[in-house]
Amino acid sequence: MQRRDGFHNKKEAFEAFDDIPTNPHLERTIGDVIMARYGRRSVLQGMLGVAAIGATVSPLALAARASAQSAATRYVWDEVEHGVDETHHVASGYDADILLRWGDPVLADAPAFDPMNQSAEAQAKQFGYNNDYVGFLPLDGSNRGLLCVNHEYTSPEVMFPGVGAEPDADDFKAMTKELVDIEIAAHGGSVVEIARGEDGKWAPVAGSQYNRRITADTPMTADGPAAGHERLRTSEDPEGTRILGTFNNCAGGMTAWGTYLMAEENFHGYFWTDQVDEEGSPLDTVGGAEAAKFKRYGVPERSYNWGVHYTRFNVDREPNEPNRFGWIVEVDPMDPNSTPVKHTALGRFRHEGAESIVNSDGRVVVYSGDDNRFDYVYRFVSAGRYNPDDRAANLRLLSEGTLSVARFDEDGSLTWLPLVWGQGPLTAENGFASQADVVIDARIAADKLGATPMDRPEDVGPNEVTGKVYVMLTNNSNREQDQIDAANPRAANNFGHVLEMTPEGGDHTADRFTWDIVVRCGNPAIDEVGAMYNPATSENGWFASPDNCAVDASGRLWVTTDQGTSWPKSGTADGVWGLETDGDLRGTGKMFFRVPVGAEMCGPLFTPDDQTMFVAVQHPATDGTKSYEPFKRLSTFEDPATRWPDFQDTMPPRPSVLAITRQGGGTIGT
Ligand code: FEO
Ligand code: CA
Ligand code: CA
Ligand code: CA
Repeated sequence: MQRRDGFHNKKEAFEAFDDIPTNPHLERTIGDVIMARYGRRSVLQGMLGVAAIGATVSPLALAARASAQSAATRYVWDEVEHGVDETHHVASGYDADILLRWGDPVLADAPAFDPMNQSAEAQAKQFGYNNDYVGFLPLDGSNRGLLCVNHEYTSPEVMFPGVGAEPDADDFKAMTKELVDIEIAAHGGSVVEIARGEDGKWAPVAGSQYNRRITADTPMTADGPAAGHERLRTSEDPEGTRILGTFNNCAGGMTAWGTYLMAEENFHGYFWTDQVDEEGSPLDTVGGAEAAKFKRYGVPERSYNWGVHYTRFNVDREPNEPNRFGWIVEVDPMDPNSTPVKHTALGRFRHEGAESIVNSDGRVVVYSGDDNRFDYVYRFVSAGRYNPDDRAANLRLLSEGTLSVARFDEDGSLTWLPLVWGQGPLTAENGFASQADVVIDARIAADKLGATPMDRPEDVGPNEVTGKVYVMLTNNSNREQDQIDAANPRAANNFGHVLEMTPEGGDHTADRFTWDIVVRCGNPAIDEVGAMYNPATSENGWFASPDNCAVDASGRLWVTTDQGTSWPKSGTADGVWGLETDGDLRGTGKMFFRVPVGAEMCGPLFTPDDQTMFVAVQHPATDGTKSYEPFKRLSTFEDPATRWPDFQDTMPPRPSVLAITRQGGGTIGT
């Protein structure tokens, strides 16, 4: 059965959340087409080999490039090939070992995983569903530490027996309160102590005192400008400071002081309304006086029916509850009894991630993308300074500071526009009564400031070695020809691009950066795609829809992809690629790892010694399985496209975190 939105099931629709633009303020780019940097001359140069890369850079960046030395590739292995099948693949000479699977015990008293007899109580003690961000807090160098893993969402069609391929059919009839309770327990995050044994293999430390499950029900507090504000108050929380849970935590970050940041992304999908039209779509009037704000955030989306069973998720009953989500949550993994904090100073939007860097002056800078078509790239600069000897003070660094949004100009410069109440248009006349309104409605404030609407900003990762910052722009097939600009140079951008930001003078708090595009993704052999890679890239080295990224200790960039149900457009499953950013090979990709059918690649993350790369395989057996030749249908619990990673008839597919190490030991990828 086709859903009203044209997708086959909730899963497909969920993956496409990010594809439904809610930004009506696109005037700045419409009719403001700057082709100067991507004109005919550049395209011609693109045919001429290495010059293609020069053609994609700004004059400012070119000057810096001139001094960069050419070098041999820094990514050494036999490349994995594009393709798709029922299992994962890693470069030869490496082991990719399953470390943690959905349902594995986390807490000491967790029962063994029994997929036919699931319960919320068991799930709240076991590893959650759809592992996404992976962080590592070292406890003993690179051999023991706390793995911090987000559980972004649930895929009920392959989680639960008997619910079929479309558990949302007939108004979620299959999704009973019992199953919703399991979903609530399967969201959030896990903190798991892991250690590397004598044999070089990683394993969880059973019953560790640090182990913790965070769920969509875990009590949290809020701080910063919106904490306690009337727009955060609900009937269950009249003070507006005690929030239950976090969900749809996509990527995240680890701070210099050893805390774990969980980014709340597609929170709107969890909110319900009973005010729907004949087709089940929420009425435009939902939210009353707040309707326009609801719309800008896509609330309520009704992709989960939690609001049927719990009134706090029904906006007709609790219109302020959605204002309590869309934040960055800080967790102290060293104290499993600590209360996670939602830092409202970092703004409310669909945060993909929250990677941070300590600036040379000690202020902490957090970068975050708002993953939606035509939404923005943000930066937070702390008011206080990091003090390696005062952890208690560091735990307050994200409570106060300045949030800014990026405007990318065609001359290759970038201006950070501060979201500060009372400045420019952010005043009462425009609906901002205080800084609380500015952070709660950060998207609307950024609209007013003239930020640049981007092709779905995902991870934004600073490179500590070079001081540059990488932005994964995953795709935006909705961008029209008259909406292209220098930083988003392709209409119908199905495959995304990787953008590099360079802080002026290495100062991450500077008002102005420069920027440049490293690669335009997709298959460079197909002219219409308009991909641009270094010609040294092999037929397996190009990729589509960059999503997460990591920088290893030597400053090399690694990119993972998430094509969603669109992977048949590229013909390969998602995976991990190394991507050259310097010298003559800049813009050369190289494939390192590939996921099983229907999965998405999340993580990646290196131990400090670069000897282990953790990756998270999310939602195996779900995306695009109707296009998978050996299967050609939607997956269910009973009949999945793959039973990765256990391959037992009694086990459903299980999202899992893997530890990749080199056989015989050594640095990854050298
Ligand atoms: Fe959870 Fe931006 O993807
Ligand atoms: Ca995902
Ligand atoms: Ca993702
Ligand atoms: Ca994505």
